[in-house]
Amino acid sequence: MFSRGGILDLLKLRTNIASLKGSIDIPGDKSISHRSIMLGAIAQGKTIVDNFLLGDDCLSTISCFEKLGVKITQDHNHVEIEGAGFGGLREPAEVLDTGNSGTTTRLMVGLLSGVPIHTCMIGDESIAKRPMKRVTEPLRQMGAKIDGREDGNFTPLAIRGGSLEGIDYISPVASAQVKSSILLAGLNATGITSVTEPHKSRDHTERMLRAFGCEVEEDGLTVKLKGGQKLTGTNIEVPGDISSAAFFLVAGAIVPNSRITLKNVGMNPTRTGIIDVLVKMGARLEIKNERIKNNEPIADLTIQTSELTGIEIGGDIIPRLIDEIPVIALLASQAKGKTVIKDAAELKVKETNRIDTVVGELSKLGAVIEPTDDGMIIYGDKKQLTGGEVHSHGDHRIGMMLAVAACIANDEVSLSDSESISVSYPSFFEHLNGLIVEN
Ligand code: S3P
Repeated sequence: MFSRGGILDLLKLRTNIASLKGSIDIPGDKSISHRSIMLGAIAQGKTIVDNFLLGDDCLSTISCFEKLGVKITQDHNHVEIEGAGFGGLREPAEVLDTGNSGTTTRLMVGLLSGVPIHTCMIGDESIAKRPMKRVTEPLRQMGAKIDGREDGNFTPLAIRGGSLEGIDYISPVASAQVKSSILLAGLNATGITSVTEPHKSRDHTERMLRAFGCEVEEDGLTVKLKGGQKLTGTNIEVPGDISSAAFFLVAGAIVPNSRITLKNVGMNPTRTGIIDVLVKMGARLEIKNERIKNNEPIADLTIQTSELTGIEIGGDIIPRLIDEIPVIALLASQAKGKTVIKDAAELKVKETNRIDTVVGELSKLGAVIEPTDDGMIIYGDKKQLTGGEVHSHGDHRIGMMLAVAACIANDEVSLSDSESISVSYPSFFEHLNGLIVEN
């Protein structure tokens, strides 16, 4: 159905889709899967994880902890971790390879800063360009000994773990990776560690720390914890990733005659900006079967083809939908009128500079979209997307957004570097394929 072309991984995508119908069990949440391994590794006793995301990023996290001597067994998406506390982590003879994963890299620097071992961390080409000072600087304020390229701003990083002191950190960015890195270091620091953010970022670390028996306090935009707390292994069922569901929410809204149900989607309020945007743009979306599992809300979502109107997206909502902006840009290209996305300069330091890659690639398919300093403006008036040769730039979310865009293109679309999609959604094409109603 999706055929591989001859030249350099050029994937011919399905275009001109008449209708998408059916239901999907959304794979496990990437952020929660990472944290389940990390907290499981530093807890005492066994942690059992179900619906773990088998994406490349989360597998990088598993491989790093295995190199640190943690016993992890895996049977498909069921994972068991034998936690032996921070004290169970062993100095690895090898470099820890975090692949394409910013979450693995940034959270592990914090987690390892207070463990008395030496570690080296390296990732892929994209990781080598992503700023690490946002974590290494506050961690150094806590006493961490970290070095890396450009004074610790870029990988490879070397960490000489040692004693840390709690700090009250005022973060200039709303970033769950920064917040989590400092909190994980804080577990090993003397006294209290607090992080205050300009806007609230995703709070999976706080919720999961509590599930492992830790006390974490929240006061507005400040999160704090006391060092020296012990974690106890637990059972975790990972909810479906709303960031993965987003591709099908948009597909269902923009492909004609469509109705898609997405099951077990994580509905943590720090992640549901995409739902707010869809509703505000006029999408026909139903939320059913809302429930709570392991401190995380989940629900089933049904989306149908919708008449959409452009809106302005900025401020507090940005951290709640930061990963969904590529696919929101596509959604906006099919709305009546203009959509402005602002306050989203963080897009420039994701797996790619997503202002450039979204604008560049969607323009190739005929969308009318222009970059701004902190976002983009999308003009929905010329709705028909055309064919073209597009590139994921090695960014999973750009690749998936382009595959959804192709569904409504009226001519051939080929995608290069489609393998990157396996970073967060290895079964993406299988799921998309299963929804296509053949004429
Ligand atoms: C993540 C936090 C976000 C997000 C990333 C996953 C996490 O990054 O974009 O995909 O799991 O903590 P920032 O913390 O850089 O905003």
